[in-house]
Amino acid sequence: ALQFFSRNPNEPPLVFHWFPFIGSTITYGMDPPTFFTENREKYGDVFTFILLGKKTTVYVGPNGNDFILNGKLRDVSAEDIYTVLTTPVFGKDVVYDCPNSKLMEQKKFMKIALTTEAFRSYVPIISHEVTSYFKTNKDFKGKSGIVNISAKMAEITIFTASHALQGSDIRGKFDESLAALYHDLDMGFSPINFMLHWAPLPWNRRRDHAQRTVAQIYMNTIKERRAQGNTAGLDMLTHLMNSSYKDGTKVPDHEVAHMMIALLMAGQHSSSSTSSWIMLRLAQNPAIMEELYQEQIRALGSDLPPLKYEDLAKLPLNQAIVKETLRLHAPIHSIMRAVKQPMPVPNTKYVIPTSHVLLAAPGVSASDPGYFPNPDIWDPHRWDPSSPNAPTINRSDVEDEKIDYGYGLVSKGSASPYLPFGAGRHRCIGEHFANVQLQTITAEVVRLFKFRNPDGSDKLIGTDYASLFSRPLEPANIYWERRQ
Ligand code: HEM
Repeated sequence: ALQFFSRNPNEPPLVFHWFPFIGSTITYGMDPPTFFTENREKYGDVFTFILLGKKTTVYVGPNGNDFILNGKLRDVSAEDIYTVLTTPVFGKDVVYDCPNSKLMEQKKFMKIALTTEAFRSYVPIISHEVTSYFKTNKDFKGKSGIVNISAKMAEITIFTASHALQGSDIRGKFDESLAALYHDLDMGFSPINFMLHWAPLPWNRRRDHAQRTVAQIYMNTIKERRAQGNTAGLDMLTHLMNSSYKDGTKVPDHEVAHMMIALLMAGQHSSSSTSSWIMLRLAQNPAIMEELYQEQIRALGSDLPPLKYEDLAKLPLNQAIVKETLRLHAPIHSIMRAVKQPMPVPNTKYVIPTSHVLLAAPGVSASDPGYFPNPDIWDPHRWDPSSPNAPTINRSDVEDEKIDYGYGLVSKGSASPYLPFGAGRHRCIGEHFANVQLQTITAEVVRLFKFRNPDGSDKLIGTDYASLFSRPLEPANIYWERRQ
């Protein structure tokens, strides 16, 4: 009752809880989407809960996404929240360990590298990685079997992303030392590290050692490439090596190395989780997997020639698989910002004080029946406008405003309930790459296999929210059978 009486009327309603400090940490942490949906029903679109002692204010729906993700620099800060986790993993002077204006320039460098010409070169690289993986991997010997697909997709994601984005010299190093080092770096991303990032714990020491070693591998590769005159490729490393800030300074090698770590970490978790969900959804829906196969035969010919970048646009169902999987399984369920000065919420009496953290959860509108009929059904066909489940996005009152934060025009997101890649200043620059990677992987898997659940049912495994990026609980077993 105390919390009720002490409540400031200009603050949003506080989610009921029994214990101070712990507050709603457990119920939120076990299943964030359910927590958001239930509390939205009780309290409305804006509410506050206690996360490890911190007042955390959620604002869901398109207006909430816009309020948080397009907040002004003097009002909200991402780096204040993330830097304790990311700086030891990525390294100094990049992303959240520098002023936001520098991040915007760095994002521009990364985005410029992702050209159509580069994507054209990536598709055959990704295809080749996928087919040779399934040819040689010991768990895919023979005609059929059962496998924990999440472990396999994690490897395929790192091989495809490192080869395409980082180049064949870096990819070669993943077979040996680099994969283990990345695993150690990953440990730095456990949510517990929001509190213990500084502690001299064994995994933090391994994290720090891995950061230095991986950065050195990139810096040595840069030197080798310069010595060989190999500075004209289409991969990200080459592009960053040749970039300069607006004031004319060349991007220093250690910053290139740290950006490369940041890119691989950002892309790896989200793409690996999404590709696992895609495979699990196909195992749950074998008829759709068959439709995908038929789509390729119809669009590309029954001899199924090697995939090209241009082919991806001819496979609308294959594209919709990625889109629909991200609607229900977006790996980033909570986007946080520190509040730098009191923020009035438009059209309400609320003012969010600087003692709060803001939390955007775009997944809430992506599963809202007001926008997506039968939202809990994974239905890739809903992205066909004639489908009865097609999105009823009725926000014609709001223009899809675009804005330039320094790395090209991006959507403000206020018009769309579907934002798996975020919006505004911190929006993802890897969306197009992720789509190319995920669509290519899916198309190649469909050519090779038929999947189903091991027990033949249509059930789906639950979600593991214990890490910063959500993913399927393990083991996520599927039954696979090679096509003739
Ligand atoms: C930012 C999602 C793949 C690089 C973001 C954000 C989201 C997101 C939601 C915004 C975070 C925030 O506002 O705090 C995804 C999803 C992916 C994916 C769902 C795959 C399915 C990738 C890939 C790359 C990448 C492949 C690299 C090639 C980045 C970068 C940022 C970002 C550099 C900017 C961070 C910032 O400005 O603060 N991503 N991402 N992402 N992502 Fe991705």
